[in-house]
Amino acid sequence: MNTDQSFLIEGGMPLHGTVRCSGAKNSILPLVAAAIAVRDVVTFQNVADISDLRSLLALVETMGVKIVSFEGGELTLDSRGPVEPRVENTNGYSLRGTQTLVGALLARERRAMLPSLGGCSIGARPIDLHIKGLRAMGTHFEWKEGYLIGQAPSLKACDVYLDFPSVGATENLLLAAALAEGTTRVFNAAQEPEVYDLISFLNKAGARIVPVFPFGFRVEGVGELHGASHRVIGDRIEASTLMMAVAITQGEARIAGVDARHIWSIIAKLRETGAVVEVEGDDAVIVKGVTGYRSTDVRTLTFPGFPTDAQPQMMAYLTLAKGNSVIVESIFENRFGAILELERMGARIKVTEETAIIEGVDALNSATVQAKDLRGGAALILAGLAAAGSTTVKSIHHVDRGYEALEAKLAQLGARVTRVNQMEA
Ligand code: UD1
Repeated sequence: MNTDQSFLIEGGMPLHGTVRCSGAKNSILPLVAAAIAVRDVVTFQNVADISDLRSLLALVETMGVKIVSFEGGELTLDSRGPVEPRVENTNGYSLRGTQTLVGALLARERRAMLPSLGGCSIGARPIDLHIKGLRAMGTHFEWKEGYLIGQAPSLKACDVYLDFPSVGATENLLLAAALAEGTTRVFNAAQEPEVYDLISFLNKAGARIVPVFPFGFRVEGVGELHGASHRVIGDRIEASTLMMAVAITQGEARIAGVDARHIWSIIAKLRETGAVVEVEGDDAVIVKGVTGYRSTDVRTLTFPGFPTDAQPQMMAYLTLAKGNSVIVESIFENRFGAILELERMGARIKVTEETAIIEGVDALNSATVQAKDLRGGAALILAGLAAAGSTTVKSIHHVDRGYEALEAKLAQLGARVTRVNQMEA
């Protein structure tokens, strides 16, 4: 992990052209976990080369999974050999993406041992729902010396109701249930496109998972899974970020590699502000930003509501809207980490608990700012693209966790963004 790089942005220029999104970060992380449960050779296409994935691959490699190849967006893993069900925190960097290893290891080995989870510092991220569901399936859990240890002499199907449709808990339960005895039903399950992407892969690998109306899944356990090949869906959060980059600079560009059905909330909100968004086929959108765009209100929700992962970027966009906007963050309690830095660039934002009121300003000023987390970092980059002059966004390693070569994609749209070592910044 490189902790000392910055983006140097010469802002104030409208973005134009065409750019393609990479595969979804929040798909590939659980898919790598699923590959362990499959106990065979699996291949994924459209895989983003992001540091969260690299960290996860390093972890699973230490457990015994073979990284056969990772080139040109295609990743092949071989988990036929023995796999150690203990996840080590090898590089001092624990990532939230390891959470689905619990379900995968329990499914495969009936045992799992994980260090406490990391990821973005955007609030408490408990895993009580994961534990409750897996316990109901017969897993015994205990915490010992900083490790969560799960043991399931047998995994038995059951009906699980999630108090909240947690993405990670749903994925863990689907993984465990895929190889459990009997038919499991998960109610109030997460409906995020990445959950369906995981199901699509698992079913190709021999699992029997079907949606049940409304918001549930039925999983008929099978004895074993087999190798499969799967193309990862486009990253809707990367697409949203690029769409807002175009809109905030009043440019016009085509963003390809994303399914518009995954970003309707973003399309709707951008349109409310006056931006023009056209859907092209089932794989691209065209965004046209407008000068003097309007404010709007946003509440983050589970899918298909407005995604929390696009909230900081939307906030950056709304700093330049005409009028006041209200953002309510209802998923994570501490996801306003970019506000202080946005204020250094001239934004006017008031926060009370989960609500932010953004008073639109005429212009942002360039500044040196610090990324504190993945999506907050992306928000600062958007602000830098809109502000005239040179903005430096420090600690870009946060952004590299979830965006593949963001500077190259923005440069393709005509932005002047360069990656520099922080010492030189
Ligand atoms: C996933 C995504 C993350 C996204 C989030 C919400 C991955 C790797 N990450 O994270 O980018 O922001 O979905 O769309 O896919 N919660 C509990 N108890 C639990 C589990 C969750 O209280 O056992 C709470 C969390 O603290 C949070 C909310 O539920 O407030 C949403 O969490 P969840 O849907 O589980 O998100 P993740 O799977 O961690």
